[in-house]
Amino acid sequence: MNILRRLALGASMIALGCSSAIAADMTIGFSQIGSESGWRAAETSVTKSEAEKRGITLKFADAQQKQENQIKAIRGFIAQGVNAILVAPVVATGWEDVLTEAKEAEIPVILLDRGIDAPQDLYLTSVASDQVKEGHVAGEWLAKTVGDKPCKVVELQGTVGSTPAINRKKGFEDAIASHGNISIVRSQTGDFTRAKGKEVMEGFLKAENGGKDMCAMYAHNDDMAVGGIQAIKDAGLKPGKDILVVSIDGVPDIFAAMAAGEANATVELTPNMAGPALDALAAYAKDKTQPEKFIITESKLYTPADDPQGEYDRRKGLGY
Ligand code: AHR
Repeated sequence: MNILRRLALGASMIALGCSSAIAADMTIGFSQIGSESGWRAAETSVTKSEAEKRGITLKFADAQQKQENQIKAIRGFIAQGVNAILVAPVVATGWEDVLTEAKEAEIPVILLDRGIDAPQDLYLTSVASDQVKEGHVAGEWLAKTVGDKPCKVVELQGTVGSTPAINRKKGFEDAIASHGNISIVRSQTGDFTRAKGKEVMEGFLKAENGGKDMCAMYAHNDDMAVGGIQAIKDAGLKPGKDILVVSIDGVPDIFAAMAAGEANATVELTPNMAGPALDALAAYAKDKTQPEKFIITESKLYTPADDPQGEYDRRKGLGY
């Protein structure tokens, strides 16, 4: 059965001209990384509701941060003959075999929020942010904020081998490269979790004179930043004042920290990757419309000037 027939069989197309109307009897597998962060929890709940809105049956598999579990889940979806597969890939490498199997079974695959190192014909499209840009926006904000002042930065990296960790590091480094007064003095993974962010930051503080000479903490996500903020407070310093805090995601807790004066900037990552993904799939099923290979979501900077309390209130019921 070819890929379009598989989609067409699974989807009763309701609507005249409306590409988001893919419907009723379509079954899609979603291999999610896990629940390492507030952002990830929101992506899971938004994906479920975007599928429900469209009448799609979503088979959900939580990989608990392990690529081997994701590969197993994808093989399971292939065996069940789902109409399409969504995958948020935990790391960049190691996908070629399983995605080739999906291709041979003529099941379209859509990547959500992270990229992979594999030939582009193994997936229909990838919906993600420009992660290099996110790091760049964070770095530019810091450079503008500190001006000519010497600034030692500590960096909490995301999961080793994941595209957001690789790209957010690069973007930030590029942004500060021409600012000789700013340097990254420590950099280690906190695996995108609050607990590890706190633990790694405690180590950084001990290693760096109790944090007295530290100017900023750059975290690849808000959850690690929130853990790091706790470590800074435990060390008797004021996060947001003694040590600037800049991170990525825009989860409610970082806005709460910002409203309390304990965080300084975050770059928003929308948790709604599934909406554009399912629209692209619907259009493809309808009349073979080939989506853009990379659908890029926005990366907006928020600071205390952007009503953090209002942002917290607006986001807190959204599944984070
Ligand atoms: O891939 C997106 C990243 O994964 C989010 O920034 C982070 O919170 C999550 O764990």
